[in-house]
Amino acid sequence: MTDAGNKPVSIALTNCAKTFADGTKALEPLDLAIDAGETVVFLGPSGCGKTTTLRIIAGLEEPDAGGKVLFDGADVTHLPIEQRNVGMVFQSYALFPNMTVAGNVGYGLKIRKVPDAQIKARVSEMLAMMQITRLADRRIDQLSGGQRQRVALARAIAASR
Ligand SMILES: Nc1ncnc2c1ncn2[C@@H]1O[C@H](COP(=O)(O)OP(=O)(O)OP(=O)(O)O)[C@@H](O)[C@H]1O
Ligand SMILES: [Mg+2]
Repeated sequence: MTDAGNKPVSIALTNCAKTFADGTKALEPLDLAIDAGETVVFLGPSGCGKTTTLRIIAGLEEPDAGGKVLFDGADVTHLPIEQRNVGMVFQSYALFPNMTVAGNVGYGLKIRKVPDAQIKARVSEMLAMMQITRLADRRIDQLSGGQRQRVALARAIAASR
């Protein structure tokens, strides 16, 4: 990572866990050291905590109590994003943010006036196919990027037959 003047900055996370308000444990306590100028790629299954880690580094989330974020050794754990000189590109899938996962997947059927029972069955089928049944009642902003991608795919397929 670089600061606003493009000077490389070292990043350290110590003991950074994240538990969301609904009890979801998104991150086990994580220690991570990235040298100034070093390039690091996070790789792992959907929902394993990659974006949560990036959001903690950027200052969009705070780690659970006891976690620390250091830039060049300085503690920035409680600094908001606008005071950290970081840039971030987001994933986005044009889902309806005010609807649940099930609401999004069933939307195309609803506007086609398909009967409710049929919508419910089709939505269940789509969620099962995408392995996101347990997320049916979540709002979109409570999902990981890959989970959103699955919802977008389920919504696209749901109305196509
Ligand atoms: N605001 C939130 N409230 C509750 N749970 C959340 C919230 N944001 C993310 N999660 C959950 O935390 C876990 C980690 O999410 P994260 O976005 O870090 O995953 P990821 O590794 O980036 O996945 P992907 O590869 O799909 O983008 C997931 O199980 C996700 O459902
Ligand atoms: Mg992600």
